[in-house]
Amino acid sequence: MAFPAIALAFLPLLLTLLIRYRFYFALFYRAVLVRLWKDCVTGLSREERAYQYVLTHATPGDPDSILDTFDEWCSKVEYISNIGPKKGKILDRLLMEQSPLTVLELGTHCGYSTVRMARALPLGARIYSVEMDQRNAAIAEKIIRLAGFDDDTVELIVNPSDEVIPRLRSDFGLERLDLVFMDHWKKCYCADLQMLEGSGLLGKGSIILADNVLFPGAPKFLRHIRKSGLYDWKVHRATLEYSKGIRDGMAELVYQGIK
Ligand SMILES: C[S@@+](CC[C@H](N)C(=O)[O-])C[C@H]1O[C@@H](n2cnc3c(N)ncnc32)[C@H](O)[C@@H]1O
Repeated sequence: MAFPAIALAFLPLLLTLLIRYRFYFALFYRAVLVRLWKDCVTGLSREERAYQYVLTHATPGDPDSILDTFDEWCSKVEYISNIGPKKGKILDRLLMEQSPLTVLELGTHCGYSTVRMARALPLGARIYSVEMDQRNAAIAEKIIRLAGFDDDTVELIVNPSDEVIPRLRSDFGLERLDLVFMDHWKKCYCADLQMLEGSGLLGKGSIILADNVLFPGAPKFLRHIRKSGLYDWKVHRATLEYSKGIRDGMAELVYQGIK
């Protein structure tokens, strides 16, 4: 007798929570439950499923078609945390304005943002894209080559960022980074940024664009840029890729060095 009464008393609270956090539940459903279910049913990883879809629906050699097909898959079929079309436009605009020659990407995943950047780069520019997961890197390699970009435009480096950054000078002959796109695990943002500062590869005017600084969030990174005084910076407000109602932001930093 007491149990139904207690359950009834909690019903309004439960409903309030469901309504308030509906976008997060929807994300959990799409990103976790659907993924687990499809992993079991197909025997393929989510990244392999995305690649199969792109391969069968996009036009090879046409980066726009590859990005559009990815966006379609991520909005209608399954969720993958590509930068997506809305936040992608912030990246597009920066590339148009800055025409960077040397770009470092941390977190390639399936290569969506890599293709997005590669299609907007000036002639002779090069992206060094770092991915620590070998299976993701294998998919990214296929996507990047399918889009028509060769090794001269995109060099994929399969290793964790904290092992790659200290070797960018010695192993890859880099002298300056014009643009860094950070989109790997958020807990690495702060340490990797500090490592980049120490590497001497950031010069006055080097740009760092960091995704997801509000969701899942990178508070330590934001504290560091606020306190260090090394940057002019702002946060572009946006919503999480392929989701409604979850607020996110991209931090755009311009390195000024010690003033
Ligand atoms: C959010 S996804 C990147 C999405 C991609 N930038 C895009 O928009 O298409 C994050 C990726 O970063 C990789 N990653 C996470 N931490 C890393 C690290 N410390 N070094 C290299 N790759 C990392 C993960 O394996 C994952 O594939």
